[in-house]
Amino acid sequence: MAKGISKAAVIGGGVIGGGWVARLMTAGCDVTVFDPHPKAADYVNDVIARNEAAMLRLWPGQTTGARGQVRYANTIGEAVEGADLVQESVPERIELKKTIHQEIGEALADHAIIGSSTSGLLPSDIQRDMPNADRMMVAHPYNPVYLLPVVEIVGGEKTSAEAIATAMDIYAAIGMKPVHIKKEIDAFVGDRLLEAMWRESLWLVDEGIATAGEIDDIVRYGLGMRYAQMGQFMTYRLGGGDGGFRHFLEQFEPSLKWPWTKLMDVPEWTEELVDKIVSQSDDHVAGLSVKELETKRDNNLVDFLKVLRRNQWGAGTALKNPADMAPATEDSMALDANPLITWQGHVHEDWADYNNHMTEFRYLEVFSMATDKVLFGCGAGPAYVKEGFSFYTVETHIRHIDEIAIGEPIHVETRLINHDAKKLHLFHEMYGGADNRLLASGEHMLLHVDMKAGRACPMPEQISAGFDTIAKAQDGLAMPEAVGSAIGMKRK
Ligand SMILES: NC(=O)c1ccc[n+]([C@@H]2O[C@H](COP(=O)([O-])OP(=O)(O)OC[C@H]3O[C@@H](n4cnc5c(N)ncnc54)[C@H](O)[C@@H]3O)[C@@H](O)[C@H]2O)c1
Repeated sequence: MAKGISKAAVIGGGVIGGGWVARLMTAGCDVTVFDPHPKAADYVNDVIARNEAAMLRLWPGQTTGARGQVRYANTIGEAVEGADLVQESVPERIELKKTIHQEIGEALADHAIIGSSTSGLLPSDIQRDMPNADRMMVAHPYNPVYLLPVVEIVGGEKTSAEAIATAMDIYAAIGMKPVHIKKEIDAFVGDRLLEAMWRESLWLVDEGIATAGEIDDIVRYGLGMRYAQMGQFMTYRLGGGDGGFRHFLEQFEPSLKWPWTKLMDVPEWTEELVDKIVSQSDDHVAGLSVKELETKRDNNLVDFLKVLRRNQWGAGTALKNPADMAPATEDSMALDANPLITWQGHVHEDWADYNNHMTEFRYLEVFSMATDKVLFGCGAGPAYVKEGFSFYTVETHIRHIDEIAIGEPIHVETRLINHDAKKLHLFHEMYGGADNRLLASGEHMLLHVDMKAGRACPMPEQISAGFDTIAKAQDGLAMPEAVGSAIGMKRK
């Protein structure tokens, strides 16, 4: 992948560490995790699965990037060895962080950098006694790390300018928006803003002015939607209307002195206040579990990102297609495998129709991902398309043979029925469910196209060789009965 990052270590595999693992894998990076918790691997694997579902929704039909692999180490030294980037995400305790960074620094490769996910501890305090402190900095992400692009980069007294520059490149290369905070302060920038809102929210609840649910609604139905795409200053700039930003600032300047907010006064932290916040929030979420809320959050974030990408605005501009960050390589698939498995996954919950089965257009989506896998495997991936050549589908016939429910496993096996210099005839079969039954078949004709000339042309030897390999491996297999079948009813 870009900027020479191919191996990363993640120390601490909780909410944030798991998110880093998923993001790095999507960018094609192999990740080694160290976390002494006996269930850490289960938790991280769960986050990876959540990220896969989100990527499928974000890049439908394009999830063919070569994902990195995850591995679990028994020591920090083993995880850090040979890593280009080490991301520490252990609990927010300064003594623990210092001990961990000491060990990371001792095992660090010569070129590698270290980012700490700390939400507010100073990098100078963490790096004080460690070796290789010049390459340690804060790299503070937001949850969920696999979807939110921003990362605050904060150097300590010992951090070199060169290490900061390298980090800015690395985090951008994995689809993030690194923002360099020039002076180190507790809690950096994002958490200071959040803290102000949090303190004010606590007061409002404590004094019975609004409930937790009402405050959340005021944010999510209103000001939060503005912040998500314009931030603080751009939003207020518009508040001045035609009078401009200066007019807005002059109009609201007096209220800063009144003052409206309590900010630095913290309400007394009593059991009663905790109970009040928890029970009001329980009422507001109306029985939804954390897992259900995480799924809602991820689906909404993905759909926000899609809109922002389409409008080329804000967080949408930081997005990088996994297939571009880590293009699938020609050898990423054994072309002579039998059966040739070209897609594996689960029926995603968004794929349900009103019968709660996989809906019909998703069959075509899965078959088209399977087709891409074959094309990429034969060398006709994104790089080939950039050269101005591609394959266009000119005919498709899908047979729906059996239903499949949400969450069930499915896979696709592909047969190359025929090929010549310009044409490919593919036949996919989708299997799934606990009994691995046949669910559907997809038969497709594709043309090799010179996109600039806008017409079919013979494919070059290096591409046709892949199809020859598949054909040879499948030589002698019985022809599937459905090949060439047409839609029809017997006339009465
Ligand atoms: N949760 C957030 O929203 C958020 C956001 C941004 C940054 N952060 C920061 O990220 C860091 C991690 O927070 P989190 O929310 O993921 O916490 P977490 O409790 O979910 O995860 C911490 C993980 O560290 C592991 N751990 C404990 N001791 C360890 C050790 N000695 N070596 C390796 N792993 C060890 C734990 O087993 C756990 O899995 C903190 O510094 C936090 O401030 C959190």
